[in-house]
Amino acid sequence: MRLAVLSDTHGNAVAFEAVIRDLHKQSPDAVVFLGDLVMRGPQPAECVELLQGLNPLVSVRGNHDQYFARYQNPSDWQPKTAKGELNLRHFIYNTGLLSKEERNWIGGFPTEFLLQDGAFQAELYHASPDSLAKVSWPWSTPDELDELRKHEKTRLVLYGHIHHAFVRSVYGRVIVNSGSIGLPFDRDNRASYCIVDWEGDNLSAQVRRVSYDIDRVIRIARDRAMPDADLFELAVRQAVFPYAMQTAAAGVSG
Ligand SMILES: [Fe+2]
Repeated sequence: MRLAVLSDTHGNAVAFEAVIRDLHKQSPDAVVFLGDLVMRGPQPAECVELLQGLNPLVSVRGNHDQYFARYQNPSDWQPKTAKGELNLRHFIYNTGLLSKEERNWIGGFPTEFLLQDGAFQAELYHASPDSLAKVSWPWSTPDELDELRKHEKTRLVLYGHIHHAFVRSVYGRVIVNSGSIGLPFDRDNRASYCIVDWEGDNLSAQVRRVSYDIDRVIRIARDRAMPDADLFELAVRQAVFPYAMQTAAAGVSG
């Protein structure tokens, strides 16, 4: 079984298209998406269309997708923090470009998924089994990473959210973070996704990094007067988390 693991497109369809071109060359048997389809980037409708075109086995709900479950309209949201105000600006931008049906589709993603293939079992989350926003860094202790699974039988855990790709073995299981397609924060500004293969007890995972036209997605953000376009440009050019000044009180999260 060959699985393509995609996550955190964040409205960057230029990066998403480049990943899909690379993905087709890898001939996966199935595709899964780990959340945060839109928000922070300029092309939400294009990302919806690209994801639907891949016919993924599952799309799990991220903390940014959760806004579409929580709020029907921007007027439903009264932010109390600078981070909330930033996210509301992007919610307004996104609701202007997505149909109600598309917003409900995003808000309806399941919060977790158990993938079973014969005796093989994988757990899929955006951030963790009990939170859509918990931050589990690549350098977490084995015990911390072990909290990312619920079931003893699980061989593979897939999650997103942190925008840092990594693969680690912990207590006989493989933990994979596929990184972010649209907004990597690990100082490598190429789009990130993973290919995972298993057959019987043999399991391997590779992180793939794909170059794309960064100038083009920035131009689209400017042309569409996307809010916080300066921060977006900094993020996609340097692959850093640029929202710290706006969100210092709330902490860093993808
Ligand atoms: Fe994210």
